[in-house]
Amino acid sequence: MSERRFHVVIPCAGSGSRASTAAPKQYALLNDIPMVVHTLNAFQHAVGLAQSVLVVAPEDVTMTDVLKQWPQPDFFVSHTGGATRAQSVLAGLNALKAQGVGADEWVLVHDAARCLITPELIQTLWLACCEDKVGGLLALPLPDTLKAENNGRVGTTLDRTGKWLAQTPQMFKLDMLRQALISAGEAVTDEASAMELAGHSPLLVRSAAFNFKVTYAEDLQMAQAILTDRSPSTRSSVV
Ligand code: C5P
Repeated sequence: MSERRFHVVIPCAGSGSRASTAAPKQYALLNDIPMVVHTLNAFQHAVGLAQSVLVVAPEDVTMTDVLKQWPQPDFFVSHTGGATRAQSVLAGLNALKAQGVGADEWVLVHDAARCLITPELIQTLWLACCEDKVGGLLALPLPDTLKAENNGRVGTTLDRTGKWLAQTPQMFKLDMLRQALISAGEAVTDEASAMELAGHSPLLVRSAAFNFKVTYAEDLQMAQAILTDRSPSTRSSVV
């Protein structure tokens, strides 16, 4: 098995407008800690983490302050976020390359807003993909019936068999992913799509429903409830 060593790109340059928070959603406080810090803590506790990057918007002045209060020794900040997620991820990969990270090193790309990720899920992805030629992603078989809309009404019901919801982290080799993103352009909404367009078939690795992306205002409450349930003080008072 490969030596367990991976780099992480956290695209963190979105405005998070769908969450209706005052500041970008990655800075929303959950249990008095910014969302992005919960995300970073999970990676800091995962075995194999090497030099990694947080990609923020050029005008972002918050992340540096956040990291002063909650230091993340393996992460550096790159103010190179772009207009789309794909651009921000590509900027992060370029930043890692500029720091000397090798073309064949594994990189895990993870949304800052998936703050319920755990070291165990990161390990599951690593173990499933580390010997693979392409890499893969955490994903969940679609649990619900899938409808296509037509003017606010059901247009048709789609067959959900064999359909998965893509999550992150998504794990690929640095240069394969760079090339795929450069060729795919800005429209792709995840790394696996870029790899697919380049002719690869990423591995689907079964994840958990709790690894959802905080998107809407109500997701913040759900994330808060799960984090509270996980916290040691809550656990000892329940026992
Ligand atoms: O907008 P969405 O929730 O899909 O964003 C997913 C992740 O991509 C978030 O962590 C967000 O900060 C990041 N993003 C980015 N640059 C953009 C848009 C989104 O880094 N231009």
